[in-house]
Amino acid sequence: MPNTLNEQSVRTALAAVKDPELGQSIIDLGMVRQVKVDDAGAVAVEVALTVAGCPLHERIDQDVRAAVGQVPGVRDLTVRLDVMDETERRQAFAAAVRLSEARRGAAPAARPVAPASREIPVRSGPAAPAGPALLQPNTRTRIIGVASGKGGVGKSTVTANLAVALAQRGHKVGLMDIDVYGFSQGRIMGATGQPEVTADEKIIPWDRYGVKLVSMGMFVPEDQAIVWRGPMLGKMMQQFFSDVVWGDLDWLVVDMPPGTGDVALDVAQKVRHAKLLMVTTPQAVAMHVARRAAGVAERIGQSIVGVVENMSYVRCPHGDRLEVFGRGGGKHLADALNVPLLAQVPLEPDVRAGGDRGEPVVAAAPTSEAARVFLQLAERLDHMVPPGIVTAAAR
Ligand SMILES: Nc1ncnc2c1ncn2[C@@H]1O[C@H](COP(=O)(O)OP(=O)(O)O)[C@@H](O)[C@H]1O
Ligand SMILES: [Mg+2]
Repeated sequence: MPNTLNEQSVRTALAAVKDPELGQSIIDLGMVRQVKVDDAGAVAVEVALTVAGCPLHERIDQDVRAAVGQVPGVRDLTVRLDVMDETERRQAFAAAVRLSEARRGAAPAARPVAPASREIPVRSGPAAPAGPALLQPNTRTRIIGVASGKGGVGKSTVTANLAVALAQRGHKVGLMDIDVYGFSQGRIMGATGQPEVTADEKIIPWDRYGVKLVSMGMFVPEDQAIVWRGPMLGKMMQQFFSDVVWGDLDWLVVDMPPGTGDVALDVAQKVRHAKLLMVTTPQAVAMHVARRAAGVAERIGQSIVGVVENMSYVRCPHGDRLEVFGRGGGKHLADALNVPLLAQVPLEPDVRAGGDRGEPVVAAAPTSEAARVFLQLAERLDHMVPPGIVTAAAR
């Protein structure tokens, strides 16, 4: 710790303060706009917050005061909090992506809780080709949000395999993982390595099995407990739509958070032409919660394209279908929503193992029964949701 009071020693102290949401140093995120130190020991710090109306701004204020207060020689401290403009915010997100450690190879539970590294070098990818924004009116990108009433029913597994299946059908496919509470697509799709950012601060998606992938996990270390707030989430989502080098996508498949929270509503409002695919298991209880989620989706005017029943049965060696989780959940839900039951995915060890290894079953074992079901699902959706007729809400 340097013991002279100057701008550098104040900045060094401030480097220990983290943005409560992004979990990264406010210095690294570019949130510290100005540090002034005068001869009398008066320090003035200006910090730009990522979003306005930040309920955690008091915490940043306190943390900044505590950190600067430790620098010897400080007699007076003024902290000014402001809000970032669009450019600053984009740079902060890009910095968060660069800084979040790519430790996605191991299971999250096995990871030590470590502070985000500050030593990762800034790497820049090639300049971004100006692709059409996904939210422009008359986009030809078909958007499918994969939703479920609760976690653990296989929403992410279905999302990943559907994306890979659509890519195998020759489409340009994007996968957006906005499940803030349990982002897992990095692991399921086997995407590791540092995500890169272009010179103009656009995020370069991972590319796996012909699918372009971005995940909430790109922004924060996976072991970090993050309290996401509405306004921040909204900005994140906006970022995912507008500041990712998607190129010209045929399909965008979105791994939605389970349930009916703010994020689902936000997606719905941003992308009015998105279709929802509901995932459930055969159990009645899963069906009921999925139905509640669907009810909300319907109220906000999002159309549901169909239902996928996952873990429907186990195929026995002799060919019988063993319905381990009961039966009928998918069909009941589809009937209640007046939409088709589009697929019944068997419970297969390969599906789980593929997810853990980062190789979705459609890519790893394309002739397996589960893979064939996913490929059929992709084919059906291809026919049900025709391209080129959607009009995105111009927001
Ligand atoms: N059809 C299936 N057969 C075998 N395991 C499955 C199947 N679908 C999902 N799983 C496993 O169940 C667990 C939960 O699935 P996941 O897709 O993460 O659910 P969610 O996203 O709904 O929380 C994962 O370990 C996954 O590999
Ligand atoms: Mg999931």
